[in-house]
Amino acid sequence: MDAATAPPPSPARWRVGLEQSPVSSVTFRHAREHRVKACRGIILKGMCGIVGYVGPLTPSDRPLSVALEGLARLEYRGYDSAGVALATPDGVQMRKKAGKLKNLRDSLETDPLPAATAAIGHTRWATHGAPSDENAHPHLSADGKLALIHNGIIENFAALRAEVESSGVRLRSETDSEVVAHLLARAFDAIGDLTEAMRTVSARLQGAYTLLAIHEDVPGVIVGARRNSPLVIGLGEGENFLGSDVAAFISHTRTALEMGQDQIVTVSADEVRVIDADGAPVTPREYTVDWDASAAVKGGFDTFMAKEIHDQPAAVGDTLLGRADETGRLRLDEARIDESVLRSVDTIIVIACGTAAYAGHVAKYAIEHWCRIPVEVELAHEFRYRDPIVNEKTLVVAISQSGETMDTLMAVRHAREQGAQVLAICNTYGATIPREADAVLYTHAGPEVAVASTKAFLAQITACYLLGLYLAQLRGNMFIDETQALLAELAEMPSKIQEVLDTEGHITDVARDLSGVDSVLFLGRHVGFPVALEGALKLKEIAYIHAEGFAAGELKHGPIALIDQGQVVIIVVPSPRGRDQLHAKVVSNIQEVRARGARTIVVAEEGDDNVEPYADVIFRVPQTSTLLAPLVSVVPLQIFACQLASAKGLDVDQPRNLAKSVTVE
Ligand code: G6P
Repeated sequence: MDAATAPPPSPARWRVGLEQSPVSSVTFRHAREHRVKACRGIILKGMCGIVGYVGPLTPSDRPLSVALEGLARLEYRGYDSAGVALATPDGVQMRKKAGKLKNLRDSLETDPLPAATAAIGHTRWATHGAPSDENAHPHLSADGKLALIHNGIIENFAALRAEVESSGVRLRSETDSEVVAHLLARAFDAIGDLTEAMRTVSARLQGAYTLLAIHEDVPGVIVGARRNSPLVIGLGEGENFLGSDVAAFISHTRTALEMGQDQIVTVSADEVRVIDADGAPVTPREYTVDWDASAAVKGGFDTFMAKEIHDQPAAVGDTLLGRADETGRLRLDEARIDESVLRSVDTIIVIACGTAAYAGHVAKYAIEHWCRIPVEVELAHEFRYRDPIVNEKTLVVAISQSGETMDTLMAVRHAREQGAQVLAICNTYGATIPREADAVLYTHAGPEVAVASTKAFLAQITACYLLGLYLAQLRGNMFIDETQALLAELAEMPSKIQEVLDTEGHITDVARDLSGVDSVLFLGRHVGFPVALEGALKLKEIAYIHAEGFAAGELKHGPIALIDQGQVVIIVVPSPRGRDQLHAKVVSNIQEVRARGARTIVVAEEGDDNVEPYADVIFRVPQTSTLLAPLVSVVPLQIFACQLASAKGLDVDQPRNLAKSVTVE
């Protein structure tokens, strides 16, 4: 990566810097000067979090404590069950429990496991088989000597299962993973080498997997393999780590190796050895993780979501950092699209899922206004399967916090196959979507742990504004002084967001009062419409309250029939200083629902007195220009949902049935 394509300075709290030194040898003894080619084209499939630790051959409690800590950081990948297996002097010891990590911890406290030399741990998001103790990972071989964990989906598992069963093994779970434990144990018995056994078995698997295994005959070793699912290695001093991502071991080491596709790794306390599917040695890419572990803890708030809502001034500010060159011109982080191609783009299609798609709705208003290019916004899963009209003059903008959402990734691939250029807006450096895109604009929101997205949303909207300004500049729709004026206005947004956060006490009181409601409607117009949709989504996701967002203009075309005595309606009011009398029209909507018995909560600018007669409650936001208003107007709605769910005693960070990153279609 040269200076022209390197990401702009990102907040030190969350930056992954790639080291650039050449490689020569294939065996690592803390040889941090090594690097390899970046692995591209990875498909992540299935979820689950995986952690591994190997320490000295003197048994201790450290393997278990490192594994449990890693699992806690990886619970965002799924929390249907958790389990660990340890290599101990008494052989492989395993414990696993359905439900959240706490259940596993409680069990280990009541009935501790012995000291160990190595540990593997797993947190599950169920794909094959219900979230039960039996289906939890690790899975043991029939003789109990080998334990295995798996992230992904083994697509040919039915045939393999039949084969294993026909050899007389009775499987204990319904998973596609257990069958691999049996195949691996059998291969180890035949070959006598765990690495070679893993290579042989991996070659038989179809689908997606990260696998880690321990065997009691090699108590100081973990063997891993990956295809289409992630695995990173953390290099320690006299100990080494493995994880689905660096969060698993960030508090122990910042030096990591990235495993390529179809590679097998053998890790001991002081050696990391990687081979490819043919058994040839390879040298994985080494990089330094430059974000602070404290960014991933709650920082004094009750929930990650509350913390992340309060991180938003920084998320927006950091996303704006370092975007212009010395001449004042905006630039992308990674641009593999010719500028002349971007100038000739005649359509933009934004693809995304969930909250990210609402950021795309905001982008439509801004980009069409600034660049005069038609912008469509579509859910990635709908786009992919409707035969969209896409060609080389189409710019597809894929928005994804994680960069791993399978629906969005598949849509990206489809768009590229049709000849479109793809630009990714992503919060995760080096994730699959930005790697496969033609250009990238990174958001710098930092790690978002709560399942319900908040700070990533504001950072995505910010990145969309930057993209709009970049295109406007490139295509000659705006002069530099115009884009700079808007950038200056954007630069004021972090402090305006902070002003909203300062009203949290008032919003919390309202949320607590309303914790018994069972339905809330949201109305918004223009950019307030996606804000209304996002407000409703937040309430559904974490408070399990029926909530719908509507375009305020649509009220009289149907939704008004829902208004009954006491129905709570939250209305996002546009600036009275905006165009087209939108403000007056939305104020009329407030009157209309109030006249029919609704309880009205109004999100309105400071100084907007017109709303007062019709509002039961007002959430005030600072004055902004119309297009930038979502950055402040969504904040009270996030706080409202978070505090209402907390008042109901719900698990705000890990709502039922949801996972942070949906990596299956
Ligand atoms: C899941 C999460 C949402 C998120 C969506 C898209 O549904 O629960 O919070 O908005 O995925 O995720 P992405 O990582 O692609 O932005």
